[in-house]
Amino acid sequence: MSIIITVSNQKGGVGKTTTSAAMCAGIARRGAKVLGIDLDPQGNLGFCMGLEGNAGPTVLDALNKRVRVQQAIRRLELCDILTSDITLSSSGLERLEPGKREFALRDMLRPVVDYYDYIIIDTPPALNLLTINAYTVSHFLIIPMAADILSLVGLSQLRETIDSVQHSVNKHLRVLGILVNKYNKRTALCRDVLEMAEQLANQINTKVFVTKIRNGVSIAEAPAHGRDIFSYAPKSGAVQDYLEFINEISDDIHLSEVMQYGTEISH
Ligand SMILES: Nc1ncnc2c1ncn2[C@@H]1O[C@H](COP(=O)(O)OP(=O)(O)OP(=O)(O)O)[C@@H](O)[C@H]1O
Ligand SMILES: [Mg+2]
Repeated sequence: MSIIITVSNQKGGVGKTTTSAAMCAGIARRGAKVLGIDLDPQGNLGFCMGLEGNAGPTVLDALNKRVRVQQAIRRLELCDILTSDITLSSSGLERLEPGKREFALRDMLRPVVDYYDYIIIDTPPALNLLTINAYTVSHFLIIPMAADILSLVGLSQLRETIDSVQHSVNKHLRVLGILVNKYNKRTALCRDVLEMAEQLANQINTKVFVTKIRNGVSIAEAPAHGRDIFSYAPKSGAVQDYLEFINEISDDIHLSEVMQYGTEISH
């Protein structure tokens, strides 16, 4: 049974895709079977994981049942991935009836949830039906934010969406925490942002992760070289931070809780 983790924040450019790709690579390097899912029509996750070319079926083909999910999954060296492209922006999910359209991703994943140890979902910078589908199927949510003031504005909307999902389609959804990204501990701004992030975390009943991801040029360089960050710059600060982050979340994930929920997803 997979542990399903969504990386989400409706703010753009905060590090959702970077974090999703690093989690896929980092967790897979520990020997786990990992599936990354790109639910963003920008289609960046594959690129960040070193996937070349974008031919073949995408997650949209599997969501719309044009192909079986297994046929849309691409195999990378470390892990598997369901890619997306711009066609996902008109997914057609909204044409399904309420009560069904929130569960399209969950239904799609049913044949493979027992195969993977972890499924990591990258989401668009929006709170739309795709995001809701990710929240509906997930056990855990990680909210990355960039260490600037603007990335904190508007997070009350995110809180409302999480509340609504917890009260309607997925009472098991748990926000694991806020991940501060692009962090530079020497600046006063970063310290202010951290304080605000703590207050925000309180409001959504979560915490700010102890691990912060520092600002580092290798993160931006890795995709340009067609590699994931772990193989591109194994000794970089970013890799060190993401390894620490993966250790930190491993302590938080309670398998028993997941196992119980698992039976609900797979039947
Ligand atoms: N810690 C970091 N240090 C330096 N650059 C970073 C860091 N994290 C992310 N970046 C860069 O910031 C940009 C945005 O990151 P990313 O694409 O992961 O954000 P996103 O939240 O997925 O964006 P979008 O909302 O558009 O999907 C990218 O160019 C990425 O390489
Ligand atoms: Mg992204």
